[in-house]
Amino acid sequence: MKSIQGRKIVLAVTGGVAAYKAAELVRLLVKAGANVHVVLTEGGARFVTAVTFQALSGNPVWSDLWDARMANNMAHIDLSRDADAILIAPATADVIARLVHGLADDLLTTLCLARDCPLIVAPAMNRQMWEHPATRRNVALLHQDGVTVFGPDSGEQACGEVGMGRMLEPEALLAQLETFFGSGRMRGRKVVMTAGPTFEAIDPVRGITNTSSGKMGYALARACVVAGAEVVLVSGPVALPLPDGVRRVEVQSALQMREAVFEALPGADVFIGVAAVADYRPADQAEHKIKKSGESMTLTLVPNPDILAEVAGLPNPPFCVGFAAESRDLDKYAEGKRQGKRLRLVVGNLVQHGLGGDDNQVVLYDDHGRHPLAPASKVELAARIVDHIASLMLPPSQITQNG
Ligand code: C5P
Repeated sequence: MKSIQGRKIVLAVTGGVAAYKAAELVRLLVKAGANVHVVLTEGGARFVTAVTFQALSGNPVWSDLWDARMANNMAHIDLSRDADAILIAPATADVIARLVHGLADDLLTTLCLARDCPLIVAPAMNRQMWEHPATRRNVALLHQDGVTVFGPDSGEQACGEVGMGRMLEPEALLAQLETFFGSGRMRGRKVVMTAGPTFEAIDPVRGITNTSSGKMGYALARACVVAGAEVVLVSGPVALPLPDGVRRVEVQSALQMREAVFEALPGADVFIGVAAVADYRPADQAEHKIKKSGESMTLTLVPNPDILAEVAGLPNPPFCVGFAAESRDLDKYAEGKRQGKRLRLVVGNLVQHGLGGDDNQVVLYDDHGRHPLAPASKVELAARIVDHIASLMLPPSQITQNG
């Protein structure tokens, strides 16, 4: 099961302006394959109507403790019984206070008290309310009770003030939920990665680059976070949004990429080289734009350092993973690269399958042999590759046949 797909999530919407964002959250959750059941409090219904949530979730919306639609008339019990989590978003200061005191005077609080699934709250309130000693106390108590708190964020607030208390954006809440449901198999691991192309300048306005989209690297970075890892992504120029939870260091050239990698490397357990690093760079970079002369010109190129081979060649290297995009003889070249660069794992693909697109077909090469993965989206493949890395990092006695 993917981290969100097939999950039953009870989304409770309480009375804050951020309730309008809950509608988008329902849409994102449903798109990710979740079965969403909305509980709308009286306050929440003042901001967004039940009709919106019912239309977006495709399920009835629940508001009343005495609602007779549930066969046994016990929505407060049945709603949570097969749920994977209750997420309260937005969670007002009031509902947080009532939760920590175990009140049960409406459907939501009764449901939370009677639940047998995890409870997550995404606070949303004015900055003064968030910083009030009563709220600080209540949030500390929530943590003590094992409740997970997503956010809040700081920034502009609906009241015009600026500070801590904004609810996380729906995309960020979805990302946090993915991590929450993720395998946790990379928890406590630090992963340093490269992704995207490099850009090797010729003069201030021109350079040599390649068509790497960065999609596979970015999907892997996110998959590592979902599996619980801390991720530093050293990225060449790409047009992709930064995945939630990933620390990105933006670079242009291979030399900058190498420097950023070695800066991030201390303490890393895993290094994944996904970047399509340019093999050569111009020997000299012109200070000013080169003018055309009508004559032919010669560009002298010098080799770039092989970042992955250098990291793998360190005396005490992290677990090193490389990528091999080949146009033929995949087995021969990918396995050759693995042994040549002394890598623990190589992800190989034929370029005609993956470049620039959203899907790919890859084969994993490790000490145990070759493992072809079924064709899938880069996002799905990323999750499988991370799972494979996590398996290979287990002590030898725990490694299964499948790696
Ligand atoms: O040898 P080749 O370039 O095909 O190897 C590809 C793998 O090596 C990729 O994982 C890529 O990120 C990494 N690499 C690197 N630095 C280079 C060239 C490739 O880290 N200069």
